[in-house]
Amino acid sequence: MAEVVKLERHDVVATITVDYPPVNALSAAVRGGILRCMNVAIADPEVKAIVLTCAGRTFIAGADITEFGKPPQPPTWDEFMAVIEDSPKPVVAAIHGNALGGGLEVALACHFRVATKNAKLGLPEVKLGLLPGGGGTQRLPRAVGPELAVKMIVGGDPITARDALKSGLIADIVESAPAGGQVFARKVLTERLPVGKLRDDDSKLAAVKADRSIFTNAVASMTRRARGLEAPFAAAEAVGAAIDLPFEDGLKKELEGFNKLLGSDQSRAQRYAFFAERAANKLEGLPEGTGPRQIERVAVVGAGTMGGGIAMSFANAGVPVTLIESTEEQLKRGLSTIRRTWETSAARGSIPADAPAKRMALINAAVGLSNVKDADLVIEAVFETMAVKKEVFAQLDKCAKKGAVLASNTSYLDIDEIASVTNRPQDVLGMHFFSPANVMKLCEIVRGPRTAPDAMMTAVSIARQIGKAPVVVGLCHGFVANRMYDPAFKQADGLLFEGALPDQIDAVLTKFGMPMGPFVMGDMAGLDIGWLSRKDRGVKSEISDALCEAGRFGLKAGKGWYKYEAGSRAPIPDPDVERLIDETLARLSRKRRAISDEEILERMLYSIVNEGARILEEGIAARPSDIDVVWLYGFGWPVYRGGPMYWADQVGLKHIADRLVFHAKQTNDPSLEPASLLKRLVVEGKLFASLA
Ligand code: 3HC
Ligand code: NAI
Repeated sequence: MAEVVKLERHDVVATITVDYPPVNALSAAVRGGILRCMNVAIADPEVKAIVLTCAGRTFIAGADITEFGKPPQPPTWDEFMAVIEDSPKPVVAAIHGNALGGGLEVALACHFRVATKNAKLGLPEVKLGLLPGGGGTQRLPRAVGPELAVKMIVGGDPITARDALKSGLIADIVESAPAGGQVFARKVLTERLPVGKLRDDDSKLAAVKADRSIFTNAVASMTRRARGLEAPFAAAEAVGAAIDLPFEDGLKKELEGFNKLLGSDQSRAQRYAFFAERAANKLEGLPEGTGPRQIERVAVVGAGTMGGGIAMSFANAGVPVTLIESTEEQLKRGLSTIRRTWETSAARGSIPADAPAKRMALINAAVGLSNVKDADLVIEAVFETMAVKKEVFAQLDKCAKKGAVLASNTSYLDIDEIASVTNRPQDVLGMHFFSPANVMKLCEIVRGPRTAPDAMMTAVSIARQIGKAPVVVGLCHGFVANRMYDPAFKQADGLLFEGALPDQIDAVLTKFGMPMGPFVMGDMAGLDIGWLSRKDRGVKSEISDALCEAGRFGLKAGKGWYKYEAGSRAPIPDPDVERLIDETLARLSRKRRAISDEEILERMLYSIVNEGARILEEGIAARPSDIDVVWLYGFGWPVYRGGPMYWADQVGLKHIADRLVFHAKQTNDPSLEPASLLKRLVVEGKLFASLA
């Protein structure tokens, strides 16, 4: 095997380079290599300073996650960190790309850190259900103070090189990593800069030792949205140990916490989710050598709710985009919504003050479809009717350049039928974003029967480029996400007719960890659209219809399934709704019965799993983990439960199938009968994971 860590010497400076693609993860081989090179450099009398750097696209992006759960390999972390920190010669970490997790922890054991302008530094372990286990919770508070340390460790988001410099995490910003690191190492020698260890420096802890509320407030603010998660709280506790205990004892506390989390169900699920997201990017069975098409210009057609959000997603990622409407007036309205959204974010401090203007400048607004002519990718987000979609695609066929990928953001419609009005069905596919499109990460990439492999790859690659989580799905009504939620909505509706109340049903789902239940969701989306569509189709849903007839259209009307106080989005259960339900049921001669939370959970969530099984059976999703990614990023499924298919494996497929049979009988609802794939897996004693 090629050496993954190399040592070079230029006069008095030795450079240790980790070269372990793709992300220089700290595998046992890398740790061993650094240890060996450190010992050689320390022993070499010519060497006066050491630079630790990486080849390829990034600095060390963390411990090697694939080694978690396997027997530990030498060298131990302690041994390896000690050789760096206790080195009698100054060690400079020269960072480019990402210094994350164990990568930043190694850098914190070095005596100095420098980074390139675009580098990101962070401790994202909580996102894997862990806490930093290589001294990060003890050294980072000493490097940047406990407030920022809590933000980085409990929140898990990285900071930029500029912020790292401001906080004292790095000593300088350099042009390039190895060269800048070597220059800095020489400066340390010539200017005789003091060489210290973070473990010995408690100066940045003094303020919090005097006033602990600095720490508790920071923790409260970072854990506000950590409902149900264990890791952020354990991580906060470990940072607390840095304040309260001597360094060595703090390290012990950290390790205890790390090991506990490493064996937890939550972390296992979160690590599964990490790899599931990456697996979803991989398109299998494509002809060899298929690559994405070059995308330089993007156009979005329709500046409504979705088109505006999609254009924002591109601008947020620094990609210029042409936003096209049918009239000046619609365009103006769309642009002003976009500007307002960014300005609100800037006012809240979640994006820089100059970001709205900079991002607006990336949006080129235009009226008329002829403006797509230079675009390599066109995303259509006009009204959801087949006739309008066809009209737009027929025009796109005339105006778009040859080879451009033509994507529809349709929620339900048949991509192939849309493609049929063009002379280039191979270029047509679905890119189904979720609302609000500038925030939600999921993008279903819908493959039609005639879509070309390189067009699919292009859509996946551009979606990743703008920070989305693309999942390739096949063609069916509602694709994966909407199709799978439908049976749950149906059960919610049924439960209402049998006697459950909206707030009971919603509470079961939020207690499970979903961000909201179906009734709050309905209120947010507005109930009138579904009502009008039911009237159009001559379909009835007595309770929902009665609600709309009473003018309860949801949040925008101040009342729907819940009531809302003026200016508030907080749903309040409303006795009027219960009365309305009672009256409707009495009119239908139906009686309410007591329904347990368990029944609600089983009927709603098991029917989701069941539909997932049908989707797998039909090949609409390639892997169970793809379905899980859809739920994690499309509906906010709690990441510590991995996703519905992963969760089903943990619950037990036999139990789920048995309960589905029970509820199907009890409610006389054949849609609850277990899917044949589910039954087969039960008979074979297998899990969904066996299909991966
Ligand atoms: N260990 C093992 N493999 C890793 C890895 C890691 N820490 N980080 C990334 N990879 C793998 C990915 O699985 C992927 O493999 P694949 O090509 O076979 O699918 C490949 O590297 C490239 O990753 P991405 O597709 O994510 O590449 P990007 O360029 O989009 O992102 C990244 C790069 C920002 C580094 C991102 O991969 C990332 O966030 N990685 C995880 C970082 C992390 O969580 N580090 C902490 C680890 S835990 C730890 O350090 C514990 C310590 O405190 C003791
Ligand atoms: P919307 O009604 O807010 O916006 C549609 C826009 O398209 C309008 O501004 C309209 O003026 C414009 N438009 C219509 N014809 C046009 C043409 N020929 N040229 C240029 N612009 C034209 O609708 P919304 O909600 O943004 O939905 C758009 C699409 O996205 C639909 O297919 C919908 O199913 C899908 N979608 C909607 C989601 C949602 O939550 N709203 C979620 C995911 C997908």
